[in-house]
Amino acid sequence: MKLPSRVQLIDVGPRDGLQNEKQPVAAEVKIELVHRLQAAGLTEIEVTSYVSPKWVPQMADNAQVMHGIRRQPGVRYSVLTPNMKGLEAALSAPRVEWPDEIVVFGSASEAFSQKNINCSIAESIERFAPVVAAAREKGIAVRGAMSCTVGCPYEGEVAPEAVGRLAKLMKDIGVERVDVADTIGVGTPRKVQAAMEATLAHFGVDAVSGHFHDTYGQALVNTLASLELGVWNFQSSVAGLGGCPYAKGATGNVATEDVVYMLHGMGIATGIDLDALIDAGVYISQALGREPNSRASKALRVKRGA
Ligand code: HMG
Ligand code: MG
Repeated sequence: MKLPSRVQLIDVGPRDGLQNEKQPVAAEVKIELVHRLQAAGLTEIEVTSYVSPKWVPQMADNAQVMHGIRRQPGVRYSVLTPNMKGLEAALSAPRVEWPDEIVVFGSASEAFSQKNINCSIAESIERFAPVVAAAREKGIAVRGAMSCTVGCPYEGEVAPEAVGRLAKLMKDIGVERVDVADTIGVGTPRKVQAAMEATLAHFGVDAVSGHFHDTYGQALVNTLASLELGVWNFQSSVAGLGGCPYAKGATGNVATEDVVYMLHGMGIATGIDLDALIDAGVYISQALGREPNSRASKALRVKRGA
């Protein structure tokens, strides 16, 4: 199949990237990160999540961050809302501060569903249904994240059939598009393609995105394997930040810088200025006191200095 000529990236750094940070990160730093990402050409940014602060303390400043960001026309700002309480909190702000899209997040494996959101897959869908309906009624887009689509930290391998079942449940409650997530980064190309195909049985190719953590260094090749199926939406994290607090040992998402380097090298447009993106990654990494976790960033910064 001919590869897509354009790719849409969602930077999940401010949310997936920072949710796992042990050290406090000031809301001002998160806001500045969002500003730098949009200045670099990102048109979709996952900003924060409205989850329990007892479960994920780093996202407790959700309202402050949504209040502080200066919105740029043409940019879609999304937030995670696992239940009605989360949606109500997101919508308790003035309308101009509402997210453009909310994300409900379920799992293809039962054990991860319990660990991450404290309920079974079936219960999670029951919880999501009114959230999805209420958001859509208000004109807010709805995405569904599907965790553990190839492997689970508690159950091991996950069958494509389980992914297909979850995708169908998401579709049935009105979720508009879904993320096929390799939460712990164990996937390899053919397994990721099987998870994608199980999802594509229920959603059109424009409504499916890849979300690959890079624990085993497979995220770029899994991106390419997804492009081969026509998938052209992907999530990544500036400077390779992150990991899920309920998936021990899992590292961050693939670095946006590395994905952009690969795509531009293949002649695939992203609308992103790689140099400005690298600077955004350096900004947040310095704030966290470490180096960006991106090979392309490192190599290109060495070249700049030469
Ligand atoms: P629960 O304990 O079952 O909820 O948690 P509950 O309804 O029984 O309520 C218990 C307490 O939480 C109550 O407070 C509620 O008010 C409060 P208390 O009376 O004890 O003081 N509460 C909330 N507070 C703020 N916002 C809310 C909210 N809901 C309840 N929305 C719950 C269930 C889902 C809330 C909890 O399990 C939770 O917050 N989980 C979040 C887990 C999380 O954020 N994980 C990381 C994001 S997912 C991810 O990273 C994967 C992804 O990247 C894709 C991939 O890579 O796989 C998306
Ligand atoms: Mg994730």
